[in-house]
Amino acid sequence: MSHAWRPVIVVIGVIVFILGMRMILVPGDFKAKNGDYKYQWHRVSSEEFWKNFPVKHKGREFCKQCHPDKIEKVADSGHKNVQCENCHAQFNPEKKGHPINLKEDFGYLLDIGIDRSRELCKRCHAKLEYRPNLYFMFAKGPSTFHMIDPTKHNPGIECVTCHDVHRTGFK
Ligand code: HEC
Ligand code: HEC
Ligand code: HEC
Ligand code: HEC
Repeated sequence: MSHAWRPVIVVIGVIVFILGMRMILVPGDFKAKNGDYKYQWHRVSSEEFWKNFPVKHKGREFCKQCHPDKIEKVADSGHKNVQCENCHAQFNPEKKGHPINLKEDFGYLLDIGIDRSRELCKRCHAKLEYRPNLYFMFAKGPSTFHMIDPTKHNPGIECVTCHDVHRTGFK
């Protein structure tokens, strides 16, 4: 046998090994349904699991039942695309529960307690080198994201001392 065949045999061996391991490791129900191969790959048997998975966040329609004034304010503000629960859900669970028993009435527990720390706002507004100032993917044209340098922008004072969060105006 020519020496040139030896590496070919090794390569074929590696491919056969990979295909063999794939057959063993990939579960049989890992399929692309509906013939759409782009996004469809998943374990078909886990569909029921995700259907029954309890949703933790309710969205603002839920809060609207009791806080319609806040919804209107926020809808008209710079935070119109930020859900209430982005700032309010379960930040200080040990401190204080939501004054109404949402679990009993709505099957939902919101351990509220208001987070007024700079940390809350820094989560989104702290300037990051890799985050663009302008986002271009919106239909209405480039959209700005306002970031501040927390070490320079009024350090040591809670943001909510000056900013009205729901209106994104000033107090
Ligand atoms: C069943 C009615 C009801 C629903 C639904 C509801 N709330 Fe409330 N919430 C209240 C009442 C009543 C208070 C106490 C009075 C007030 O501060 O307006 C309150 C107070 C609050 C407070 C202040 C808590 C504090 O410690 O002072 C926040 C924050 C809040 N709700 C956020 C939310 C968010 C976010 C949602 C949606 C996920 C929501 N609520 C859904 C009734 C409700
Ligand atoms: C960007 C973060 C953020 C978003 C979004 C937000 N909140 Fe707030 N919320 C706060 C902060 C911070 C405070 C405390 C404000 C202060 O002390 O000036 C607060 C206070 C409150 C209070 C109690 C004090 C008050 O002003 O009556 C309620 C009730 C409340 N929010 C409900 C809501 C609801 C309902 C939504 C959704 C429409 C919402 N919030 C959206 C951050 C937020
Ligand atoms: C979940 C992310 C998120 C959090 C948390 C958040 N913001 Fe925002 N904020 C946004 C987005 C998105 C906008 C709209 C884009 C913009 O104007 O920068 C915005 C806009 C603003 C604006 C308006 C800027 C302008 O000139 O139009 C102010 C002021 C502001 N936020 C202050 C705060 C303060 C204070 C807090 C903390 C209590 C806070 N934000 C928490 C996402 C967030
Ligand atoms: C002492 C009052 C004060 C405090 C505390 C404060 N700010 Fe401001 N902030 C202002 C004023 C005044 C402006 C408008 C002038 C400017 O851009 O400096 C502003 C502007 C902003 C803007 C808009 C910037 C832009 O590009 O247009 C954002 C976002 C913001 N602040 C977020 C925050 C966050 C987040 C915190 C807390 C980490 C905070 N601020 C703390 C007074 C304050």
